Amino acid sequence: MRLLDGKACAAAIKQEVAGETARLSGRRPTLALVRVGEDPASKVYVAAKAKASEECGIESRNVHLSDDASEARVLGVLTDFNNDPDVDGILLQLPLPKQIDSDRAIAPISPEKDVDGFHPESLGRLAAGSPRFVPCTPLGIRELLLRNGVETAGADVVVLGRSVIVGKPMALLLSQKGRGGDATVTVCHSRSRDIAAHTRRADILIAAMGVARFVKGDMVKEGAVVVDVGINRVDDASAPKGYALVGDVDFEPVAQRASLITPVPGGVGPMTVAMLMANTLAAYKMRTGS
Ligand code: GUN
Repeated sequence: MRLLDGKACAAAIKQEVAGETARLSGRRPTLALVRVGEDPASKVYVAAKAKASEECGIESRNVHLSDDASEARVLGVLTDFNNDPDVDGILLQLPLPKQIDSDRAIAPISPEKDVDGFHPESLGRLAAGSPRFVPCTPLGIRELLLRNGVETAGADVVVLGRSVIVGKPMALLLSQKGRGGDATVTVCHSRSRDIAAHTRRADILIAAMGVARFVKGDMVKEGAVVVDVGINRVDDASAPKGYALVGDVDFEPVAQRASLITPVPGGVGPMTVAMLMANTLAAYKMRTGS
């Protein structure tokens, strides 16, 4: 078993982005980060995105709206960033407080600035096979597989979870024609029958359903590549904060069978942030014609 080291891979990608931004003349690529409410995980993620921006020579503009912000207020902030010619990418961190509908909030983001890839036009382009911006987590997973020499062409891939953020775009990306694609993809979800029968066939297993330690050792084929997208809080009296973060994979027994496996933390998470940087640089280049 070898670890799929997302942290190291993300550091390499960020260095590549930083190398490119250092050579730019004129204004920096600029990313707007919008957070609404007090979701504790979102606070950590957005702080990580701002820090990575700085490391990459990308300017970040941070807006934090209160838990009771109206939908109109959120749309107003996004519209201002849309209209600002110096802003290349806009990210609205999810989840949103319940008074705000995420589809309605994402809709006004200009597709040219949709570095998160959640706009229906971005997802439609991906589904049609001519992607512009692809959601950062599936994009990061593909990049991690590519850079570790994992062959996807003809591989049986099983994706657990059908979210718009991970599962659905992951399946689209891996089944696309070409490098990092050409896989035979099965998507399992909460209504799937006998999930283990699917996962045991998988050459590449991607767990993204958000259930702590769901994937057990006996659900994984010997030699499989296992990607764990989950970040779940579980009670742990021995941990300083009273909880531990665990993935959707029961790591120890699964690692015994896997040829490659991502750790949690240090696997998929850093890759998501690195791809956001890459997408922001791509948006800048597209918008400035450089
Ligand atoms: N919430 C969980 N993952 C993501 C992500 O990649 N982007 C945004 N905006 N929100 C998220």
